[in-house]
Amino acid sequence: MDCWNSGNRFRAPPERLHPTRCSGRLRENRRMSGSAHLASGSKVPGHPPYPPLRTAHWRGLDIIGRGANRVCTRNPESPLTLLKFELPDDQRPPARGRLRLARWWARHFPRSGENHTELAACRYLRRRWGIEVQRHFSLCERIQATPWGDALVCRAVFDDDGQLARSVFACLQAPPQAGEGLVDALCAAVDDLEQWLLQRCIPLFDLNAGNLVVVHETNGLRLVCVDAKSVLRGKEIIPVSYWSKSLLRRKIRRRAQRLRQRIRASLATPGPLAEPASGH
Ligand SMILES: Nc1ncnc2c1ncn2[C@@H]1O[C@H](COP(=O)(O)OP(=O)(O)O)[C@@H](O)[C@H]1O
Ligand SMILES: [Mg+2]
Repeated sequence: MDCWNSGNRFRAPPERLHPTRCSGRLRENRRMSGSAHLASGSKVPGHPPYPPLRTAHWRGLDIIGRGANRVCTRNPESPLTLLKFELPDDQRPPARGRLRLARWWARHFPRSGENHTELAACRYLRRRWGIEVQRHFSLCERIQATPWGDALVCRAVFDDDGQLARSVFACLQAPPQAGEGLVDALCAAVDDLEQWLLQRCIPLFDLNAGNLVVVHETNGLRLVCVDAKSVLRGKEIIPVSYWSKSLLRRKIRRRAQRLRQRIRASLATPGPLAEPASGH
């Protein structure tokens, strides 16, 4: 299970569990240095802590991973697809301000929720760039009513050994191989994704370790985005980075650089992991 904060790993003081309480500057510093995350027991800097999911199952389904808003599980009806469910509020990090309003809105208008947003983003990518988009995006198929709730059905990404691809986050938590080789290979894969996005001006701004899974290929690693929401919906009040190509490119470069820094910082940090990621 690739839970960014599974189990009871996070026993941080309240201010660490409420990143939105920090001032903007402090929050940014923490994000860059990863101190909040490291202090709360995770080896991978830069992720906000989430309320723990205490088991490897969610409503009886096998969990593959979780993000801030959704849990991703196996699909009992098809091994080639996965299901994503929007988590109830008490299983998400606390929200204030615009985020809180967005959640309230999505509760009343589900079409503005995460699953519908990601489905719309995938359809847009597919329409605009055709089949080639599958090199770096795992596409979603539909929203489906299931016995466990409404789910987004998305294609699973497999590694060359036939196993589900692990997220960059999981690789940083429990690296498959030691040393510089992995850092270089992951950073090269980030470079490759960055160039690919820049060439097409695709506004994938949420370039974080949990949104990218790693596929091994003969000539290196390839990153595949499993969370395309940010292609359509950003965090800016006035979304200028979506309107201007030069701002878009600058932002992609910044985000890719930040991800490379996180990869280097995580794999350079000596010492045991708080708790190895189990399964995926
Ligand atoms: N298509 C997929 N293939 C493999 N793993 C996936 C896939 N989609 C999601 N995951 C796993 O689920 C986790 C959370 O999914 P994500 O869509 O990022 O949720 P959120 O919207 O909460 O950020 C990811 O970090 C990844 O580990
Ligand atoms: Mg995500």
